Amino acid sequence: MSLTKHAKLNAWIEEIKALTEPANVVLCDGSQEEYERLLAEQVKSGLATKLNQDKLPGCYLYRSDASDVARVEDRTFIASEKEIDAGPTNNWKDPNELREEMKALYKGCMHGRTMYVIPFSMGPVGSGIAKIGVEITDSPYVVLNMDIMTRVGTKVLEVLGTDGEFVPCLHSVGKPLKEGESDNGVWPCAPIDKKYISHFPETRTIWSYGSGYGGNALLGKKCLALRIASSIARKEGWLAEHMLILKLTSPKGQVKYIAAAFPSACGKTNLAMLIPTIPDWKVETVGDDIAWMKPGKDGRLYAINPESGFFGVAPGTNYHTNLNAMRSIEKNTIYTNVALEADGTVWWEGMDNPPKGELIDWKGNKWTYPENGKSEAGKEAAHPNSRFTAPAKNCPAIAPEWEDPNGVPIDAILFGGRRPGTVPLVHQSMSWNHGVFMGSIVGSEITAAAIGLKVGTVRRDPFAMLPFCGYNMGDYFAHWIQMGKANPDKMPKIFFVNWFRKTKDGKWLWPGYGENSRVLKWVCERCEGEGEAVETAIGYMPTMSAIERPEGVSEEDMKELLSVDKEGWLAELKDVEKNHYPKFGDHLPKELLEQIKVIEDRLSK
Ligand code: GTP
Ligand code: SPV
Ligand code: MN
Repeated sequence: MSLTKHAKLNAWIEEIKALTEPANVVLCDGSQEEYERLLAEQVKSGLATKLNQDKLPGCYLYRSDASDVARVEDRTFIASEKEIDAGPTNNWKDPNELREEMKALYKGCMHGRTMYVIPFSMGPVGSGIAKIGVEITDSPYVVLNMDIMTRVGTKVLEVLGTDGEFVPCLHSVGKPLKEGESDNGVWPCAPIDKKYISHFPETRTIWSYGSGYGGNALLGKKCLALRIASSIARKEGWLAEHMLILKLTSPKGQVKYIAAAFPSACGKTNLAMLIPTIPDWKVETVGDDIAWMKPGKDGRLYAINPESGFFGVAPGTNYHTNLNAMRSIEKNTIYTNVALEADGTVWWEGMDNPPKGELIDWKGNKWTYPENGKSEAGKEAAHPNSRFTAPAKNCPAIAPEWEDPNGVPIDAILFGGRRPGTVPLVHQSMSWNHGVFMGSIVGSEITAAAIGLKVGTVRRDPFAMLPFCGYNMGDYFAHWIQMGKANPDKMPKIFFVNWFRKTKDGKWLWPGYGENSRVLKWVCERCEGEGEAVETAIGYMPTMSAIERPEGVSEEDMKELLSVDKEGWLAELKDVEKNHYPKFGDHLPKELLEQIKVIEDRLSK
């Protein structure tokens, strides 16, 4: 019997069933009953732990395999027909060869498991801007997380009808079970060299194998909403970006919408949920990770958050740094790789208080709090990329318009990353193309959000999209330049921020978190044509009196935060010119090279 009314979908389900040979097939309806039934099964099988339901109602804990804790950039592929279309920053494979390679792995890979079919919508169901995907997976963990992160179920199939368009997303943990075998409470996945996160942009298909974690497995997120969507967006004249979206209201009631691109684990969730330290300003959350931005009839850019939940970094999150996130994860949340307290609550590094007692760490072992209060690298109680999956509607600061299918008009775009030196607290671009230049040179100290990279070293991560752009990054730069041409006066103002400047002895120069509202205020004023600024070689910068100093920041610190490090910038530009831009060959827009010259000239004056 056919599972759905959609012939093409039915045929695909049959094809995958024949290939992967599951024990049975379930079409997910997205209901609460289904969610609870799956969770109960997962607890029974030892894969999920039910947390203290008085303190954390509806909350559960998973521990993944130690080899499966973050995105795997080495094993992520863009299989466009031509290698040049994947570009110099992506791993390319020939699509036909890759399909053959992966089919051999998928053959019989769901033995002994249930194959779940998850119809999901990125963006409000049925809205013109939304895209529908169908994920086939053998991981109940994926079903549960997709239930939170996307809009799942029967209502999506209704919109799909008999011939609607969908992105097929195939996923398997890559661990078939033998007759009578079970996972025995151990997170199933394949070894690292058998993991594949593959994208076929021309046929708009995603094939993921061997990992059950985050962006590797929740295919609506980075795979569909960024890699596939960015390639669609280029063709259709819009932008799919690794950006948070926030709503900022001034004491006068003036509203500004700000989007910001920071690399993974560089503060998007925190900024999106910020509680201003400056009186009478308000921040509300529209999205914390992905923005789809399209030009509206009035020529402005309108953004939607295609997701419906937060897959946020746990460590560092506490009631002082991010109260709204803490409130969001008090109920109906799935925790992955955090530590477990004896009373069935959770703990991680950077929590408000030390643990109450002995913990079970993310590997399932007993763990005691070190006497000096600092976990040794590699021996943390919670994995540095441990995460929470929480419904967006849990967030006390969620903006009422967060599901508006028309999106919100973006006034300003921020770029940023973890830069211990050179990059000041904030500077504003002089033009759209200068802003695109800023995005193109974003760099950051590497974080734990991906496996196999050296944490702490600075790498370029243009537009925070290095791991997420589904096509040639040089063409992506050109697309951004193109986007500014039709209505240059209506485009958002572009800013470069850096919350992560350090002193010589490695301390933060800027307190960050809620204090970042001081910078948002200046951004808002600049959008209004106000805000004291000086024109410098690298862009407009606030005067010393434009941003009120937070407690603990001396006048000296502030001077350092707001000055142009001439030597640093000349070295930066040289590095861009010699090591970064040449990668893109003739796909690099000449407008960006011109920017280097202009800024170099101004610096040398
Ligand atoms: P992804 O979900 O990986 O895309 O990350 P993200 O960009 O949403 O980063 P997130 O907000 O989760 O922050 C990551 C880490 O940076 C957390 O440990 C935060 O506590 C820390 N962080 C966030 N904002 C600031 C800040 O303003 N200053 C400092 N020093 N740390 C921050
Ligand atoms: C990121 O790494 O930018 C994330 C987490 O948001 S993941 O969903 O795993 O990509
Ligand atoms: Mn992210």
